[in-house]
Parts: sequence; structure tokens; C-alpha cells
Amino acid sequence: MQNKNILVTGGAGFLGSHLVHQLLERGNKVTILDDFTHGKELHLKGIFNNPNLKVIKGSITNSHDVEKAFENCQVVFHLAVLDLRQSIKEPEKVNDVVVNGTLNCLKAARDKKVELFVNCSSSEVFGTAQYVPMDEKHPLNPETPYAAAKVAQDVYTFSFGRTYGLPWVTVRPFNMYGPNSHWQGYRGELIPKMIVRAMNKQPLVIFGEGDQTRDFIYVEDAAKGIIDVARNKKCLNNHFNISTKKETSIKKIAETICKEFSLDPNVYIQKQAPRPGDVMRLFGDNSKFQQLTGYVPQTSIEEGIHKTIAWFKSLPYTPDELLNQEVLRSWE
Ligand SMILES: NC(=O)c1ccc[n+]([C@@H]2O[C@H](COP(=O)([O-])OP(=O)(O)OC[C@H]3O[C@@H](n4cnc5c(N)ncnc54)[C@H](O)[C@@H]3O)[C@@H](O)[C@H]2O)c1
Repeated sequence: MQNKNILVTGGAGFLGSHLVHQLLERGNKVTILDDFTHGKELHLKGIFNNPNLKVIKGSITNSHDVEKAFENCQVVFHLAVLDLRQSIKEPEKVNDVVVNGTLNCLKAARDKKVELFVNCSSSEVFGTAQYVPMDEKHPLNPETPYAAAKVAQDVYTFSFGRTYGLPWVTVRPFNMYGPNSHWQGYRGELIPKMIVRAMNKQPLVIFGEGDQTRDFIYVEDAAKGIIDVARNKKCLNNHFNISTKKETSIKKIAETICKEFSLDPNVYIQKQAPRPGDVMRLFGDNSKFQQLTGYVPQTSIEEGIHKTIAWFKSLPYTPDELLNQEVLRSWE
């Protein structure tokens, strides 16, 4: 993956911005297609004026924007998305972006004869784990409109491979965290929200004993894993989990953040009643991508949290301003 013209849809978002950084570092020319609903210029700090980067403000739902973005494109990383929580309130809007937007991108990729379509899916397509670690053969049981749309995205990608011979690969990241993650309001994720609370000496809430586990992967590791899959011909036309194969409990996350801020966990970790139906264990088997690419995610949870805190401290907001954005409950 060097000296290529690469398109990244959703390239101003959380994962997209890291992919774009790494692709530029490898000497590629990169075009971003992002409508900046949730993407930010701040995420592209340091590269916004890079002569090898072109940013198109446009939507994957608009075929004119898509056509413009695909001009001279050899490889596409398709990431643009509206998120899970929005899908619960506005399933049609999310369907329009995830399903119809993907279809627009697949048609353009077919017509422009791109060398590779990297389809960014999600571990959400598996639903609640029927067994752990979940491998790529785990049944698809989408439990939210978002996950259902992502399954449609995956199946459309597969079908374009079979019908039109479009070369593809599908990657399914598990829970990513790190710089450029979202902490604000309804879109906020666990780790960034807890960090903002700790910065303000506010309690970190866990449900039950916090024994629930998730597979947290540092976003730069996930981006590198995705690029490694994309550049390996043995990975072509296949699905890959992007995970660490390690379980980390929510309690361990809260304790690690407390330690970073020298907060007494007995005081600052607040237990609330267990949530009914909470998934207790979730982690992904990454053997398939490790065997083919040889890549093992490197960042420990302690190091990843430390780096994420450093990023928060570098933002142009006071802890108080961060907290005001964190507690926004309205999602509109
Ligand atoms: N964040 C995670 O933990 C996670 C886990 C698994 C999979 N994923 C997948 O990774 C990919 C990136 O997710 P993310 O977490 O970086 O999300 P994000 O919201 O940070 O990034 C998505 C980007 O898409 C852009 N976008 C939205 N609608 C668009 C449209 N119509 N046209 C063009 N751009 C549009 C947004 O402005 C944003 O910049 C998605 O495909 C998502 O399903 C994310």
C-alpha cells in the first residue's frame, strides 16, 4: 500500500483520521469524502494542508459527490457511518447512509475498476456473543437497526465481488478507543467519558461489580491492522475480526483511569444496579488476521489509556468545558 491513490470515506472521523495519517505516512495520495456530520477538522491536525491530501466535503448518499471522490481512485477504505445510538431513534436516516451510501460507493468502485474495496464493518453484526472468543464464523445476529444495516453493507460488498468481480475485504473492528474518540453526549463512549469525568473529579459509574468484559483495541493498532489486511493479497475477498483477543473488565478500565489521576477507586468508582440484559463477556478471536499478516496489536490497555489522556489534555478545552459536552444528554 504505497504510492497509491486512496479514498477514505468518513476519513475525518475517529478511525478514519488515524487511517488517513498512516496512509499518508506510507507515501500514498489520500482523498477524504466526509460530510463532517461528526468528522472534525481538528482530527486532521497537522495534515490538513498536506499536498498529498485532498478533502471533499460531500456525502456518500449523493452520487455526484461519490463520482467526484472516486476519480483516479485505486483503493477505497469505506468507513462513513452514522452511529448505533442514532439508529435507535432514526433507523431510516442511518439506513440511508449505511446501506444506500454503501451501494453508491460499491457502484462507483465497480465502474472505476478499483483494485480493492476495503469494507469497514463492525463486531456489532454478531450480536450478543454465543461463544467467546467470537471468530469470523460466529452467526450474524444484528440486534440494532445499526447492526442490521452493517450486515446489509457486508452482504452487498460480498455480492459485488461475486456478481461484478470487485476485489474486496471486510474488516470488523471490536471496541476501539484512543485519540479523536467521541466523548460528547449520546455519542460518547465508555473510556473517553470516564476520562473526562476523572479529569473533573466526578464519579466513574459502573454497573453491578463492573465484571462485564469487552475487547478494547487502541485505535492506532486497529488502523494498522486494517492496512495490513488490505495490503496482503492472501486476505482478499474475506472477512477479518480486528481485535486483541483479550478481555478487559469495565472495573479494570475504571481502576486504570483512577490510577492515572491519583484518585482513590474506593471513593471515585460508583457502583449502580446491574443493567438487565447487559452482555457479560465479549471478545474477538483475531487468529485469522494474525496468521495471515503476522500483526499483533501492541498497545496495552494501560498505555492506550495513558495516551488517550494525553490527547484530552492537548485539546483546546478546559476540563470543565469537556464535562459540559460529556453530560449533554440530548442527542439532537
Ligand atoms: N468506533 C468503534 O468502536 C467502531 C467499532 C466497530 C466498527 N466501527 C466502524 O468503523 C467505521 C468508522 O467509525 P468511527 O467510530 O470512526 O465513526 P465516526 O462517526 O467517528 O466517523 C464516521 C465519519 O463518517 C462521516 N459521515 C457520516 N455520514 C456521512 C455521509 N453521508 N457521507 C460522508 N461522510 C459521512 C462522519 O462525519 C464521520 O466523520 C464505521 O464504519 C464503523 O461502523 C467503529
